[in-house]
Amino acid sequence: MRQGSQNFRLLWSATLVALAACTAQPTPPPPAAAPTKEASKASVRKEPFGATKEGTAVELYTLTNASGMEVRAMTYGGIIVSLRVPDKTGALGDVVLGYDSLDGYLKASPYFGAIIGRYGNRIARGRFKLDGKEYKLAANNGPNALHGGVKGFDKVVWKAESFQDGRGVGIVFTYTSADGEEGYPGKLDAKVTYALADDNSLGFEYQAATDKPTPVNLTQHSYFNLAGDGSGDILAQELMMKASRFTPVDKTLIPTGELKSVEATPFDFRTATAIGARIEAKDQQIEFGPGYDHNWVLDREEGGGLQLAARLHDPASGRVMEIKTTEPGLQFYSGNFLDGTITGKGGHVYKRHAGLCLETQHYPDSPNKPAFPSTVLNPGEEYHSHTVYTFSVQKP
Ligand code: BGC
Repeated sequence: MRQGSQNFRLLWSATLVALAACTAQPTPPPPAAAPTKEASKASVRKEPFGATKEGTAVELYTLTNASGMEVRAMTYGGIIVSLRVPDKTGALGDVVLGYDSLDGYLKASPYFGAIIGRYGNRIARGRFKLDGKEYKLAANNGPNALHGGVKGFDKVVWKAESFQDGRGVGIVFTYTSADGEEGYPGKLDAKVTYALADDNSLGFEYQAATDKPTPVNLTQHSYFNLAGDGSGDILAQELMMKASRFTPVDKTLIPTGELKSVEATPFDFRTATAIGARIEAKDQQIEFGPGYDHNWVLDREEGGGLQLAARLHDPASGRVMEIKTTEPGLQFYSGNFLDGTITGKGGHVYKRHAGLCLETQHYPDSPNKPAFPSTVLNPGEEYHSHTVYTFSVQKP
């Protein structure tokens, strides 16, 4: 009996332990609802990143995809602070220029990593006419208006919300530009979505609506160096641009209006060519840059949509960046004005050509060039522009 009651007690306590174990463990979700391995590895994180001089709090978002690629972007200017992508050995490296903290961006930044608006690139003499009325903008670049004005979209604090869904992990930035802000007509509601997908593509979707006709040309102004931030210049990196024409400029970098063939010029990047190969060529357009600072007219197939615009390759690291866009133009700026006066991330001194920009856009000075594709957004219309940068590696 004693033996029996002991056995019973043992059995009973074993049952209790088993029951406790059962109730402690959550029921596993049915397989269909289980997150995939990849989705569970992607993440988005938000943290404080300081405040503007006016005291507005700035937040930093870190997006990480399932493969480990990481993008950090902040609410001030929608600025991409770092972009870490793998090289041919799988090692992650930061491929954009910038600063370690908000302070640098507030003090002096040649638009490092920022959203550009309301109008990317130049408008001649800061003037344009719309429906018979002349509008005057600040001349913040010699005689011309550049990148949306004195306080463009790169210098405002955007509202932000993160997401994680079928598009990947991302951030939706929104900003309302008041009627008359920086001289532009109409209240403009702008929305820019950054989406990092698991295939190492980073998408930018730009949307806007207005209550009065206004020119709109939004873009992203990251300075890339595929060999890594602070690793020297970009001259050995090879660029292909799917463009048989470009828009030549005057000495203040305003397009003359001509769409010129790239044939037999240093502007022919239809096959991949090292950026430094012809950057010192005796050519008036190169002298105006000085270097590359021009808009290429993309060769697009009929029917719109995302189409290949450019491919950048760094032979040393093996990194490749491919650009697809819905836009008709691409500004290739070879970092000509970086002159060693900026000390950026990790104490890196940014000398001439330390980074390059590839800005998808409508052509510069379109508001004064009726023959160029129009940049006017009317009430009731939706501005929509989409660009995707995809990173990969090319092994020799
Ligand atoms: C322009 C350059 C300008 C640079 C600003 C580019 O988009 O084309 O002329 O200097 O932005 O850093």
